Amino acid sequence: MELKSRKKIHIREVAPRDGFQSWPNFIPTDKKLEIIRLLLEAGITEMETTAFVSPNAIPQLRDAADLMGLVPKDGCIHSPLVPNLKGAELALDSGADKLVVVISATDAHNLANVHRTVKESLEDLQSIFRLAKERGKPVIGAIAVAFGCPYQGDVPEDSVYRLAEAYINGGASCVILADTTGMATPTRILQLLGEFKNRFPQTPYSLHLHNNRGVAMANLYAALGVGADMFDTALGGIGGCPNVPVAAGNLPTEDVVFMLEDMGYDTGLDLIKLIGAARDLEEILGQTLPGQVMKSGPRDPRLAAKYVVARNREC
Ligand code: COA
Ligand code: ZN
Repeated sequence: MELKSRKKIHIREVAPRDGFQSWPNFIPTDKKLEIIRLLLEAGITEMETTAFVSPNAIPQLRDAADLMGLVPKDGCIHSPLVPNLKGAELALDSGADKLVVVISATDAHNLANVHRTVKESLEDLQSIFRLAKERGKPVIGAIAVAFGCPYQGDVPEDSVYRLAEAYINGGASCVILADTTGMATPTRILQLLGEFKNRFPQTPYSLHLHNNRGVAMANLYAALGVGADMFDTALGGIGGCPNVPVAAGNLPTEDVVFMLEDMGYDTGLDLIKLIGAARDLEEILGQTLPGQVMKSGPRDPRLAAKYVVARNREC
């Protein structure tokens, strides 16, 4: 097939935060580091490396500062997640290049996730922006449950736009619209993105799509059609918010790269290396992950035979 368009798509890898937080057991820091190194070798240039959150809330990420001290810094932007000013201070002191602040679009999820109403979280926001500015680091504003809330159901779009406005007024470099619970469908994606772009035409946005209901790839495809060019994905499709009753994984990075590259987009990522990294992650965790391309392989049958089928036989 002749590929004409090579539009760039930016993938921000979130397995080290969203994935490792969702795993029932603590993954040792050296094993986290091993996966992070493989992701960097595959070409990942931005990563949600960890989260600076309460170790009581997310014990799986209690090694955040140690891990940040060990990760290779060259060629990759480390953008950990922070829920409050304390997290922002710790992240910046640990060498974060960028912060991802998260607030939910509903009080119900925000209370479950960070024990505050949306209004209370917003009160912290200016001090986070001020601190990041003093240190010369950009801030991404993430809006959790933007397409549906596991406690409340439908989320009024206005509450998403109000949060986006607060982030943009604070100086956010980008807004992440997160489908934390896999409740979006292509129609909802088109509706929210259409209005978001209408209201905030200058603001870069990214999508964070969970696959709880099997619709995440269709949602990504719908977003591509209206010009979205930044996505959060997670190696192997690992992931899930602990404050969602039935959490499920993110879009697998390697599945997204397989589809995008074949459609003619340029992700800058090496699919074979991603498949290898996803298989290594499965080995470390001792469990099968949702990603499909690591099981079926790339299109080229010789590469599939070399990198996937041979290894399947070994198992
Ligand atoms: N990092 C590390 N420790 C933190 C912290 C942070 N960002 N924020 C607060 N703490 C510590 C406090 O210092 C305090 O410690 P102490 O008991 O030793 O004095 C303790 O945590 C409780 O602080 P408090 O402000 O009362 O927080 P809380 O118990 O109400 O929890 C959050 C609020 C936001 C810290 C917590 O709910 C959290 O970390 N949530 C993250 C949820 C998440 O990551 N979800 C998945 C991503 S969508
Ligand atoms: Zn997520």
